[in-house]
Amino acid sequence: METKVWRIDPKSPDPKAITEAAEIIRKGGLVAFPTETVYGLGANALDETAVRKIFAAKERPAWDPIIVHICDLTMLDCLVEDVPEKFTELASRFMPGPLTVVMRKKAIVPDAVTAGLPTVAVRVPNHPVALALIKAAGVPIAAPSANRFGRPSPTTAEHVLHDLAGRIDGILDAGPTQVGVESTVVDLTKTPPVILRPGGVSKERLEEVLGEVVVASKPPSDIEVGLPSPGMMPRHYAPSVPVILADGNASELEKVIGQLKSQGYEPSQIGVLMPEDWLTGEEGLVIFRWGKWGEWDKMAQKLFEGLRWLERQGVSAIVAPLPPPIGLGLAIRDRLTKAASANSATNCQGNP
Ligand code: TXA
Ligand code: MG
Repeated sequence: METKVWRIDPKSPDPKAITEAAEIIRKGGLVAFPTETVYGLGANALDETAVRKIFAAKERPAWDPIIVHICDLTMLDCLVEDVPEKFTELASRFMPGPLTVVMRKKAIVPDAVTAGLPTVAVRVPNHPVALALIKAAGVPIAAPSANRFGRPSPTTAEHVLHDLAGRIDGILDAGPTQVGVESTVVDLTKTPPVILRPGGVSKERLEEVLGEVVVASKPPSDIEVGLPSPGMMPRHYAPSVPVILADGNASELEKVIGQLKSQGYEPSQIGVLMPEDWLTGEEGLVIFRWGKWGEWDKMAQKLFEGLRWLERQGVSAIVAPLPPPIGLGLAIRDRLTKAASANSATNCQGNP
């Protein structure tokens, strides 16, 4: 199939493009669209056949549930059983925004969306194009990140087309996304609430509303159908070359680069996600300027772009320093650690 591209102004989306894209969603097709975090691949969340097309296009395993996007809270009642009080507090503070809340689902939500779980993950994206699309479609939109399964999430339309051109009906291209890492997924069916995936709303900010929250480190054992949040699974967010992590300081980064060189890597084979304030003599390394160390929001925005850009330069390994788990540093750590844990699959370490 040919993938239609609508170039669209993020601030005032062209109503004609939105109407066309919404029509495709209503007819059971797939449209990629920008959110404030990353691009999503949308289908009518209430149409099981349409949702299955998402899994096929992404080559995503059926056990990985999908977030349902709504444009305002009036759509919530048709999806969620007994909206918890805490949700209302979270919504008034963070919605629209990069927060996804897991709650008990109503029967109308197809099993294909939730991977058979009794819960549904809901979010209100903070992007005029996403909101206009959902409103025009008149249905909640199920949308995972618009990448092939396991790849770094797309923060531009080019990333989406690289992974999915010819597999989806269309894409609304409104330029690069702002937050750059995906939403925080918090499970409100647990006490205390559990962060299943750190993301655009930091743990610290969630705690201001929820009090104690726990960050899940591995899938809880009481889930038998599906998995609690496969964003937690290794082999996610990975470029096609190994990612090697350095403890978060300049001399550790230099040490790792030195080790690669001593294993036979040419400098031109080594890509570096390099904090701008750490730049010194680069000696032929392939450098992606990753913002200033400590400016986690800006580094989050450029993380996936950096991984994909370095991969395109044809490097044999990507080296990245690991931020501390503070603010959006936690989400960056999470994505980098998972990208690095895919190395055993490619098994290129020390083997340029
Ligand atoms: O920012 C985002 O969240 C982006 C944009 C497009 O909204 N979406 C996104 O979707 O990252 P995806 O599918 O790549 O990641 C959604 C995460 C997955 O880890 C999934 O397992 C989890 O949310 N999730 C979805 N439904 C769930 C549920 N019912 N229970 C637990 N986890 C769930
Ligand atoms: Mg994803």
